[in-house]
Amino acid sequence: MINNVVIIGSQWGDEGKGKIVDILTEKADMVVRFQGGNNAGHTLVVGGETYALHLVPSGILHPGKKGLIAGGVVVDPDVLLEEMDKLQARGVAVAPDNLMLSERAHIIMPYHRLLDQAREGRRGEERLGTTGRGIGPAYEDKAARVGLRLGDLRDLVFFRDQAARALTEKNHLLSGLYGLPPLTLEDLAARAEVWSRRLAPYLGDTWLAIQAALARGEKLLFEGAQAVQLDLDHGSYPYVTSSNPLAGSVAVGAGLAPRLIGGVLALVKAYSTRVGAGPFPTEQDNDLGLELRRKGAEFGTTTGRPRRCGWLDAVVVRHSVKLCGADHLAITKLDVLAGLPELKIATHYLLDGEKIDFFPADIRAAERCRPVYETLPGFEGDLSRARKMADLPAAARRYLDRLSELCGAPPAFISVGPGREETITLHDYF
Ligand code: IMP
Repeated sequence: MINNVVIIGSQWGDEGKGKIVDILTEKADMVVRFQGGNNAGHTLVVGGETYALHLVPSGILHPGKKGLIAGGVVVDPDVLLEEMDKLQARGVAVAPDNLMLSERAHIIMPYHRLLDQAREGRRGEERLGTTGRGIGPAYEDKAARVGLRLGDLRDLVFFRDQAARALTEKNHLLSGLYGLPPLTLEDLAARAEVWSRRLAPYLGDTWLAIQAALARGEKLLFEGAQAVQLDLDHGSYPYVTSSNPLAGSVAVGAGLAPRLIGGVLALVKAYSTRVGAGPFPTEQDNDLGLELRRKGAEFGTTTGRPRRCGWLDAVVVRHSVKLCGADHLAITKLDVLAGLPELKIATHYLLDGEKIDFFPADIRAAERCRPVYETLPGFEGDLSRARKMADLPAAARRYLDRLSELCGAPPAFISVGPGREETITLHDYF
């Protein structure tokens, strides 16, 4: 029996983590976000109601569970407050006894958002395709040690001083380089007052709360955002996000000793999608890609952008499974593949005529990789009522078997529809 599980995305994000987190939350006591920010978007269907969450851990939808935003997350207070207000308006309780914010978490300031968008605009065709939420600039300031943290909101005089110093530099960039109007300190100070008044009651050292929960024998879920292939260090740099979405990041972002990580569940969508630019060897820029997008409703939860779609890439998933030590897979959106005459899985690549079975570090090499596919028979029918493997068509079972074999871990969950109950459970965590 384990007391904590880390959930990670094994592809380029949007694997359907929200639903699986929601299922596991039922037995967990605490759900912790440990990296990323409101570039994430989890769509959940709970009790027939659809919720799109960007920052608040989805555990909040369950009475009696605690949601933590740990120090590794970057927080846009305006977005957080809006999300909290929307949840409350729909009758979901949000209070300091079920939501805790790390005083160490860095704030996404309005200038971070503006700089993210201005920089992307200037890159033109070369843009990274960021979500434009200020994630990169906020993490830059964290590393440059000029960031403001949620805990700083406790002392508005100190906050104003720090903001004034930051603003001198940011306004140079905003107006000097990008021709935008400068921001005023008064505006930032006024916002900080609201943030402080409303968020101060939620602040604490989440690391201590996690230690205390573990000591009480509680069960914890660490909810990763984005995915391993977007990892700042291990993804296809520079087409990555600015945090580390791999499992080991829990140790830093939440403050959990690596040897205390109990289990790692890797989410795998039954096909591949990517939003934003960057190499995508199995991309289907054709009718099949359009069909997957339509059937899978592949549009970004955060930005609404259409997602690029393609076949499952076992090279990518295997890479993530190894990096994270994933012990199980949660395979999602299997139902979307129903009706395709045949299915393909990339088993390895040809790079300049040579066989390789890893994703190259150099994106120019990655762009030249030609996937080598294994073709499997397709399956048909409505899978959404399947609750055990035997309910699935034989060809679907075969596809799952081969997927697990090639990706290097057995499935714990198979999702056959968006609803919580539309799931086959093969291994129950907790
Ligand atoms: P950023 O995280 O906004 O800086 O964007 C960097 C890259 O990560 C872009 O390609 C985004 O589309 C991608 N990205 C960021 N967050 C997510 C996510 O939650 N799902 C999928 N892609 C994401």
